[in-house]
Amino acid sequence: MTPKLNLRGVDIYPGLIDLPAQTALLDDIRGIVRAAPLFQPETPYGKPMSVRMTSAGQFGWFSDKSGYRYLEHHPSGTPWPAIPLRILRVWDEVGDVSHAPECCLVNFYEEGARMGMHQDKDEADMSMPVVSISLGDDALFRVGNLRRGGKTESIWLQSGDVAVLRGDARLAYHGVDRLRPGSSALLPKGGRINLTLRVVT
Ligand code: SIN
Ligand code: FE2
Repeated sequence: MTPKLNLRGVDIYPGLIDLPAQTALLDDIRGIVRAAPLFQPETPYGKPMSVRMTSAGQFGWFSDKSGYRYLEHHPSGTPWPAIPLRILRVWDEVGDVSHAPECCLVNFYEEGARMGMHQDKDEADMSMPVVSISLGDDALFRVGNLRRGGKTESIWLQSGDVAVLRGDARLAYHGVDRLRPGSSALLPKGGRINLTLRVVT
């Protein structure tokens, strides 16, 4: 499938997921959160992150004072649930690789939450893409360069949009500046969910 937009090398598929499919994904995410409750990670510098998160798949992403890494179990010790089929289908549609993702990170942004500029670099194989699905309130998504600093560009990601980091942009710095509260009615209490699919090994 051909992306419609490209932001500094990041492929964007606006509106790839229609409203009924977004609602179905939300059901899947509720199932993940029931099995593996959201938690608030700390950065390696000891600061609580403003997003709450959990994961599905063989691996879940985690951070605390010991650093960023993948865990084979939820911090409570319970296994991560399997990645729901409907989420895997989005990967198949845009990922363009034969590997299945091994982690579906679920990030929950409440009003005021943000994500500082960072690289996704805790994975072993950088030839594998990162597929990111936006649900709920609009988010100002910023993309920079392969090194920190320099020129950046941003775009408002809306519910149902999908972004893919791959190729030369796989290690691009990116982040979320802020939400536009109340811009989507998908989540009854507002906020935003971002799903990030990755091959870890
Ligand atoms: C991330 O980079 O982990 C999240 C990106 C987003 O929330 O759109
Ligand atoms: Fe990221």
